[in-house]
Amino acid sequence: MAQWTGWSTLMLLALGVAGYALWLLVASERPDFAASLFVRHPVGALVHMVCSPVALVAGALQVNRAIRTRHLVLHRWLGRLYVLAVLLGGASGLSMAFEAQGGPVSEWGFGLLAVLWLLSTSLGFVAMRRGARNTHRDWMLRSYALTLAAITLRIYIPSSQIAGLPFEDAYRAIAWLCWVPNLLLAEWLIRRLRSTATA
Ligand code: HEM
Repeated sequence: MAQWTGWSTLMLLALGVAGYALWLLVASERPDFAASLFVRHPVGALVHMVCSPVALVAGALQVNRAIRTRHLVLHRWLGRLYVLAVLLGGASGLSMAFEAQGGPVSEWGFGLLAVLWLLSTSLGFVAMRRGARNTHRDWMLRSYALTLAAITLRIYIPSSQIAGLPFEDAYRAIAWLCWVPNLLLAEWLIRRLRSTATA
């Protein structure tokens, strides 16, 4: 029951952020920061707003144990879709990272996030092709923890504004805080899964 509630919350958040990205894509009048993003990176922003939401929602379906174990064929197809979406979403994210708001601190935060996102997902894919199931699981957990930066970022930004923090300073910190704790949490989970398996 607790697992189902947790997963439903994750799915709702994923759908909310995905819907927001798709709205930015089709909106006739975009907020200033998004309008400027589309002017500076017409292709990158388009690819990013189409592919990253797909990764976010497909990944949420992939972490559901019931779907994974009962519908293996669906899991495989969603896995391929997830990898493709991350490769395109990550490459476009990387192409925009070094002009992100907030200067070098946030540029490197997003840049490193993009590189690790591409790397962890590719390693997860290669492990799956080699039949190394546990290694595949570990890399995909890391990959999805990084995908979830899209959600944590959009929780931290309004929270920092409510707390009255200056936007630029908060944005620089959030460019790192949106993914480093997620990755540490994934590492903890991976270690726990390994020790449970050994026990
Ligand atoms: C995890 C790897 C990701 C990286 C490295 C990344 C990178 C970026 C960068 C550099 C920008 C421009 C920021 C700026 O100019 O200040 C951006 C904007 C954006 N990204 Fe991503 N992104 C990632 C994942 C995602 C995901 C999974 C979504 C899912 C919906 C997403 C949705 C958006 C949206 C909607 C924007 C527009 C600006 C905003 O609302 O903040 N991104 N991304």
